[in-house]
Amino acid sequence: MKIEIAKNAGFCFGVDRAVKIAYDCISEKDKLSQNNLADDSLIYTYGMLIHNTDVTNDLAKKGISAIEKPCDAPFGSRVIIRAHGVPKSDIEYFKKNNIKLIDATCPFVKKIHKIVLDEYINKGRTIVIVGNPEHPEVIGINGWCNNSAIIISDENDINDMLLKLKDIPISVVAQTTIRRQLFKKVEEILKKHFTNADFFDTICSATSERQKSAAELAARVDMMFVVGGKNSSNTLKLYEVCKELCENTVHVENSKIIKKQYNNLLNKKMKVGITAGASTPESVIKEVYLTMAENEMNFAEALEETLKPLK
Ligand code: F3S
Repeated sequence: MKIEIAKNAGFCFGVDRAVKIAYDCISEKDKLSQNNLADDSLIYTYGMLIHNTDVTNDLAKKGISAIEKPCDAPFGSRVIIRAHGVPKSDIEYFKKNNIKLIDATCPFVKKIHKIVLDEYINKGRTIVIVGNPEHPEVIGINGWCNNSAIIISDENDINDMLLKLKDIPISVVAQTTIRRQLFKKVEEILKKHFTNADFFDTICSATSERQKSAAELAARVDMMFVVGGKNSSNTLKLYEVCKELCENTVHVENSKIIKKQYNNLLNKKMKVGITAGASTPESVIKEVYLTMAENEMNFAEALEETLKPLK
């Protein structure tokens, strides 16, 4: 059996960075207690750090649990801001309440906050965000222009916007994970109606690159495994992309289900592909790989070859 892992599978740069920041906090605390300099301050993440229960449970076991609202963080504690970022008012709340911030906002999201703040506060322009109004990243971005942004999630929203607004100066940014096609379409329409419109293409290529590599692999294997949380929207999207090209595509959360359900379907002659959503740690991808490889081949050799893109 030949097993291949798609390039760009798993954590993107921003998620990887946020998870490392959280584990660094744990090691720092451990070091202090080994030197009898006990650090009693409690550490929280504001919302689940990533949509992966293995990682969040592990963090909770090691002393970092999630809070849902800023007011859930006790006075004097420390709070890790996740990669999606948060509204300005949340940062201000934490500072006012003597809560130390550990900012793991992805630098690409941070850049959008800066653009929005500058365009809105310094230049007095109306902000338009192309994205999902319920997504924490969009809620966060909107919070850097006093929650005054007009949010467009698809082309239909533009009509509502045109009915309400005259030709005012607008600055348009994108949620990092939207399709570029949608942003370009919105740009094309808005340019016809707004004579003073600036467009900032703030889309991050990590998602599209992951999908492209998964599609490329799915098209040439007999069976494709998409690894990731059941409620992770980017994993579901990856599954759809792969399923279109490989009928035998399955979505699994981790290696356990493969042992139970799929190992007997695999045979030596097959070519198997693996990809994973943005919240899937490398350790889970490896486990999935090893579950399939262990009885069939010299995986040590294959692992070296296959995991190259992950290192
Ligand atoms: Fe950052 Fe792009 Fe990931 S914006 S969090 S690197 S998808």
